[in-house]
Amino acid sequence: MSGGGWVRGVGIIGAGYVGLTLGVFLASKYVRTICVEKDEEKVGRIMKGLSPIHEQGLPELLRQVVEDGVLEARTEIGDMFEEVDVIFITVGTPTGSDGSPDLSQVEEASRQIGNALAASKTGAPLIVVKSTVPPGTTWGIVRPIIEKTSDRVCGKDFHLCVNPEFLREGSALQDTMNPDRIVIGTKHSWAAESLKKFYETLYNPKKIPMLITSPTNAELIKLATNAYLALKISFINLISQICEAVEDGDVGVVAEGLGLDPRIGPLFLRAGLGFGGSCLPKDLRALKWFAAGLGVDASLLDSVLAINGAQRIRVVKKSESLLGGLRGRKVAVLGLAFKPGTDDVREAAAIEIIRELLARGAEVRVHDPAALDNAMRVLGGGVTYCQRIQDCLDGADLAIISTEWPEYALLDPSTVMSLMHNPIIIDGRRILDNKRFREAGVKTYTIGLYQ
Ligand code: UGA
Repeated sequence: MSGGGWVRGVGIIGAGYVGLTLGVFLASKYVRTICVEKDEEKVGRIMKGLSPIHEQGLPELLRQVVEDGVLEARTEIGDMFEEVDVIFITVGTPTGSDGSPDLSQVEEASRQIGNALAASKTGAPLIVVKSTVPPGTTWGIVRPIIEKTSDRVCGKDFHLCVNPEFLREGSALQDTMNPDRIVIGTKHSWAAESLKKFYETLYNPKKIPMLITSPTNAELIKLATNAYLALKISFINLISQICEAVEDGDVGVVAEGLGLDPRIGPLFLRAGLGFGGSCLPKDLRALKWFAAGLGVDASLLDSVLAINGAQRIRVVKKSESLLGGLRGRKVAVLGLAFKPGTDDVREAAAIEIIRELLARGAEVRVHDPAALDNAMRVLGGGVTYCQRIQDCLDGADLAIISTEWPEYALLDPSTVMSLMHNPIIIDGRRILDNKRFREAGVKTYTIGLYQ
């Protein structure tokens, strides 16, 4: 049995979080899927049915679709158009040296597609840009590159649209299976209708709103969504600083009250060490850069970034004042991933905090249930990596909880008392039962709490 309606098969350029998750999902729906990924090691792992990323549910499903022969990974695009009708571009768009998004991978993918198209004999395929790109990129950069390298015309010999991705790391597969909306941006109705029809074979169209618009609007929707989420987080972190300074202040309660207003909503109001990851900070910078190019004053976005940075530095300064200096003091950092459920440490609060602690002379020991290897690649040998929480806390002068992994919420105050040299915990993610720890003799500092 094969899914996908009119589509014989799907190609995906770039097997990162978005590409691989999409590929596994499509293959699980019996859509023949080919991932093209230039990293040979990654291709090798995928072809053995092994997931290159830590993501709930992905390893099992990946193994199954590879074993069933529905999903395949290759390093070259080759003559893929003989087998597929839709190609998704899901390559990365990291921040470039001047703050603008680096579009080189999108450009390279467009060239590969153009070359493959030039050599193909089959009908007009649909090319879908899923990478996060600034407004104007799909029509102003991707389209001309494909047209030039293939000598074919967009809207006639091939079709093009933007279809931003809204999945979250840690629940990537779940989000891909149950998107809360589908946004399609194009200038040609055939492209929009074809992608819509394809998705209707995969999702229940009655349950998922679909918005069809121009490419520019679709591109902007993605950047604006991530910027707005970051804004909510920085806003509640600003309120958390106020809560710490006013008697009885508790940002958890304030956020609850705010969230009860249906115009605000309860999500993304968790105060703490701020946002990290490969998306929110990068997309904020991209939007800021784009707005500046248009002469639009985007200082609101500067404030969002400044508050985010301040949350991390405040914790380091607090550690310093609690210990009367950090030189030679042993600090345990619990949690390295930018959020639970992932092994991704890109722009993680913990990494920034650790660098700052080291710069101030602290001896740093770290733990994370999934991200130790990735952290080691970033931080190198200057810190001690612990496989067990107990080893991380043993003899420590202070501990900082920087990722809200469920195992840290289960910490027992008496264990902390017996292991730590100085039982002080900075709860950067507000997950501990503060009262219980204090009653047991542990000194705690919780973000957003008057104490
Ligand atoms: C984010 C968006 O949520 C996705 O919709 C989007 O598709 C994705 O970026 C992307 O552009 O690819 P993600 O980076 O996986 O997803 O992570 P989030 O769940 O958004 O969390 C981002 C950061 O904000 C984390 O560091 C998290 O700890 C922090 N956060 C989140 C808070 O500090 N408080 C909150 O209330 C929520």
